Amino acid sequence: GKGNHRHFMMKEIAEQPTVIGDTLQAFMNPLERRIQLPDLPVDLAGLSRLTIVACGTASLAGHVAKYWLESVARLPVELDVASEFRYRQAPMDPDGALMVISQSGETADTLAALRYAKSLGQKVLAVLNVPESTIGRESDVVLHTLAGPEIGVASTKAFTTQLVLLACFAIAVARARGVIDAAREAELSSALTELPARIAEVLNHDVHIREIALKVAEARDVLFLGRGTSYPIALEGALKLKEISYIHAEGYAAGEMKHGPIALIDENVPVIVVAPSDELFDKTFSNLQEVMARGGRVVFLSDADGIRKLGGQAMAAVELPRVDPFVAPILYTIPVQLLAYHAAVAKGTDVDQPRNLAKSVTVE
Ligand code: F6R
Repeated sequence: GKGNHRHFMMKEIAEQPTVIGDTLQAFMNPLERRIQLPDLPVDLAGLSRLTIVACGTASLAGHVAKYWLESVARLPVELDVASEFRYRQAPMDPDGALMVISQSGETADTLAALRYAKSLGQKVLAVLNVPESTIGRESDVVLHTLAGPEIGVASTKAFTTQLVLLACFAIAVARARGVIDAAREAELSSALTELPARIAEVLNHDVHIREIALKVAEARDVLFLGRGTSYPIALEGALKLKEISYIHAEGYAAGEMKHGPIALIDENVPVIVVAPSDELFDKTFSNLQEVMARGGRVVFLSDADGIRKLGGQAMAAVELPRVDPFVAPILYTIPVQLLAYHAAVAKGTDVDQPRNLAKSVTVE
């Protein structure tokens, strides 16, 4: 059941500290703070390229993973949505591998992409929440997210457990390739271990985020901006908002604003800026100033340092705990989920069963 929640979606958002803890426990030795993966069908040290394919929110987990694997593990990663990948006749590197990501393990396009890669001799790693699924049976190894059953059509806890698992995977690849030392591995592992507590802190901002969501719910169009690993979180925020509240929303790489979308900015368009204090903060901040100079109403998601720099110029700000930038995309997912949820409730939509959508997309 929904426990004391009105919707499965809110129950599943609230479960994230627990299921992230469960997923971490499966992939990390807490005492040694060392990542441990099951035996894989590929040699991580010799891998030339990883191709990540998925649909929707799962593809956005892959998008974050691409940034992690490239920067932390120095592994070249290609990413595509399955509906494109399956038909584009991509050549595949003989020393490469395919990774598919899926909550249900039944998504038709993702399965077709898997079969295409297998026909070219690729080994397949599957990140799945339902291992006893068609994709699970056809993959060479399953990496199991322990989100538990997800009932709400909008993916929430499946996404963040995918991210946690993929973060562990990136660390393991970095170690296998000899590009991370034990001290940095312990640092990243600690940042992951602290996540359930940090997420619980963000969940405590629910009332404040709801107030902001009530303003966002009045808008016709909403933009989400971010750079680096915050860019896929901006895309996820926009996807979540449009699918459950039916408000038109777009996510953009913050640096793309001046290449077109800034033309949309006026006082009717809320702009949600995902901006943890990281090495790209100043770049995002200057994009934000350009938006504010054109009358944009900014909702600023940052930490105490970032909010201090902004000094009260935004329509609203949510202060998140300061974390290692490596895990920031996981933490910053929580406020964009809550914004979408409360905006949808305010609009009176069917949050758990949005119109035109199915939980598992088993047809093309
Ligand atoms: C969005 C959402 C969808 C799914 C997508 C893939 O909230 O839930 O975008 O992420 O349909 O589904 P799975 O992960 O089952 O392959």
